[in-house]
Amino acid sequence: MISEATIDHAIKELFQHIEFQAEPARLYDPLRYMVSIGGKRLRPRLCLTTYGFYQDTLGPEILQPAAGLEVFHTFTLIHDDIMDRSPLRRGHETVWKKWDQDTAILSGDVMYIDACKRITQVSPAVLPAALDLFFTTAAEVMDGQQLDMDFERMEVVPMEKYMQMIGLKTAVLLACSAKMGALVANAPMAHADALYAYAYDLGLAFQVADDYLDAYGDEKVFGKPIGADIVQNKKSWLIVKAYECLPEEMTAALALPAGTAQEQAHKIASVKALYDSAGIPALARAQIASLHESAIGRIRDLAPEARTVLENFAQKLVGRTA
Ligand code: IPE
Ligand code: IPE
Ligand code: MG
Ligand code: MG
Ligand code: MG
Repeated sequence: MISEATIDHAIKELFQHIEFQAEPARLYDPLRYMVSIGGKRLRPRLCLTTYGFYQDTLGPEILQPAAGLEVFHTFTLIHDDIMDRSPLRRGHETVWKKWDQDTAILSGDVMYIDACKRITQVSPAVLPAALDLFFTTAAEVMDGQQLDMDFERMEVVPMEKYMQMIGLKTAVLLACSAKMGALVANAPMAHADALYAYAYDLGLAFQVADDYLDAYGDEKVFGKPIGADIVQNKKSWLIVKAYECLPEEMTAALALPAGTAQEQAHKIASVKALYDSAGIPALARAQIASLHESAIGRIRDLAPEARTVLENFAQKLVGRTA
């Protein structure tokens, strides 16, 4: 088993020394920028962690694909910030704000290609399976992003549809990351599948937590503007749940204008007052806890040392809302 300290060190090195083409600078500078502003690097960590359950050393055949998963994730953020009109990411200006939308589109495109190139560096024996997993996942993320956009225009979204949407836009990439490590390490397929299921459930918990923090987090820690989902009429877990409890009140609150900064602040406060009156924050925390528990249940058959590492990882991931 590879230690957490070794993985920590490897991730630091990997992103400190990651290289993108120099020219045209306006195409590749946003890639360097996005890597330089950090992020939690959960996906490469999951990938290297599960790999480390079955192998003892880290070589390029796992380090490059792990970096590829983060590069792919970061590409989705560049495009997501255009789609969500977000000005802030990881506590810094988003690419479309700092440069412009055209730059964000093309830099995102080339970043996706860069991710693909890194994924192909797995050992040849597992290449077909790794590509199949990665490409299936990448398309699913886009399916999820489309549903997320479609839902903005719908007044009522059933909870079941919301869960399906976040499964696609968020959970499958974490699941793919966990499975990729196991696959490249030649782990038993039953383990690879259990790791996928664990990270999928954890990914659902993670997105509900992201929705919760969007309304109740601290902007300095969260790195994104608070209340953005409300302003955007984004069907977050909280909005979907609040609709179930207070449909008329929520319809009225979400119809409030959100053009000026003052209107936005009023709309955020109105919607959050409804959340509070319906006990939505506690319900969200209970949902996160239940998905967390379900994730832990998926790894019952793994070795005890592996389970402990994954339990700690899950705790850190969803503990942000506790
Ligand atoms: C943000 O992901 C998008 C979601 C899936 C909620 P992260 O919270 O992992 O973002 P970074 O990479 O740490 O910035
Ligand atoms: C993120 O969903 C999903 C992807 C980027 C694929 P959000 O839109 O909630 O993520 P944030 O809140 O902007 O990070
Ligand atoms: Mg989004
Ligand atoms: Mg967004
Ligand atoms: Mg969000």
